[in-house]
Amino acid sequence: MRPVAAARGKEGKNVGKTHIIGGMVATEEGLQRADLLLENGVIADLAPAQAAVHGVGDVVDATGRLILPGGVDVHTHLDSHLNGAVTADDFRSGTIAAACGGTTTIIDFSPQIPGHTLHASLAAHRARAEGRAAIDYGLHQCVTDLEAGSLEELPGLLEAGVASVKAFMAYRGTLMLEDNSLRELFVAAAALGIQVCLHAEDGDAIDELATQHVSAGLTGAKGHHRSRPPKTEVDAVRRAIAMIRETGAAVYFVHISTAGAVREIARARAEGLDVMAETCTHYLVLDEEVYDQDEQVARGYIIAPPLRDAREREALWEALRTGALSVVSSDHCPYCLSEKNSPAHADFRTVPNGAPGIEHRMLVLYSHGVHAGRITIEEYVRLTAANPARRFGIYPQKGTIAVGSDADLVILDPAGHTVINQTNQHQRVDYSPYHDWKVHGRIERVYSKGVLVSQDGSFVGEVGRGRYLQRYERAK
Ligand code: URP
Ligand code: ZN
Ligand code: ZN
Repeated sequence: MRPVAAARGKEGKNVGKTHIIGGMVATEEGLQRADLLLENGVIADLAPAQAAVHGVGDVVDATGRLILPGGVDVHTHLDSHLNGAVTADDFRSGTIAAACGGTTTIIDFSPQIPGHTLHASLAAHRARAEGRAAIDYGLHQCVTDLEAGSLEELPGLLEAGVASVKAFMAYRGTLMLEDNSLRELFVAAAALGIQVCLHAEDGDAIDELATQHVSAGLTGAKGHHRSRPPKTEVDAVRRAIAMIRETGAAVYFVHISTAGAVREIARARAEGLDVMAETCTHYLVLDEEVYDQDEQVARGYIIAPPLRDAREREALWEALRTGALSVVSSDHCPYCLSEKNSPAHADFRTVPNGAPGIEHRMLVLYSHGVHAGRITIEEYVRLTAANPARRFGIYPQKGTIAVGSDADLVILDPAGHTVINQTNQHQRVDYSPYHDWKVHGRIERVYSKGVLVSQDGSFVGEVGRGRYLQRYERAK
């Protein structure tokens, strides 16, 4: 097996020793009282809790605290030039926000620049990240234009450490691939062992509904919501699964939001197709009623797919428990409200889709999932760290707490609270979808490769210390 990730950065050699004692270490197997030794950027020792620690280095008392694997967020859009708009966070602000929120690894989407090759697009995105990241990062490459000879470029992507691409079944004229192109991509990707991340929404049905709603005068956020009913997701997922069955492609469905799509995915997995799916924090905790608010505020929730009702939401939680959904990502795609409400957008169709979330995924899911009794701590670890790391070829370097793994850790006080709002966040946006929410749990410390990067909500790490993760292989 080839190495799954970039060599440990040279910074690892100079990282001093840290003992974290007395905490409850959370893994997929459960909780155990254990002491940890972080040395040279990795977990050097993991042993049942001792009464005292001897030796040199910092000693951190984590009594009464949970020690979690650093979050792995495989769905972010930093410095993303997509569909004519640029996201508000670049790799500096976005990875600082991630670190403060307990995420220590991201895999970001590199957009295909219209008319350019995948390699030119990837090089441009790598340049945006280089020297700016505070935590480790990998990249997926979006494939939105097969005319540019993209299929011939796929082997080169693997050489560059990009083992996953993203395709869209929506946004005709800009990002969308027709079914015949998607099928070609599936065939080529399957032959190379490249995974396809798929945005499954029925673009043509959505465009038709959008035209109807705008003609009827429904030009705001409500029009966006009504143009993307659950059926548009379910139909696209069903169509995609038929193509997966035909081609043998490995597909990761991004931002799944409906019970119907979950059912299709569960069936496909039971059939043995190489399919996995994520949902995102906001689909688990926010309601479609947000579109009834004042238009200025409602535009903050113009995302694709849109938010759903309580029935769909409960089905997503259930799917996290059964394993039909395997990952919770942020789909961090931040645009300021000022941008979303710009007079340049005559109706919802040109408002950039996306919302911030990289900073609050870990805490919101902890509070509404673990604290609320909806998921166990083991499931939480699996959904936020282990499963995404495994699926995207960076496990066990990332995604777990084990001897030899990178010392990427979160120390969380389960008895503490955190208030989320746009004034205390590190995300560079003028709103938060969770404005003034008080959530259970407080992140006290975050370590990236053995170095403290966040303490009590402040960033104390070093920008540029994050390294590019070269990914080659993927677990099923
Ligand atoms: O609204 C969303 N999800 N924007 C981000 C781009 C995407 O489709 O993931
Ligand atoms: Zn998408
Ligand atoms: Zn996205």
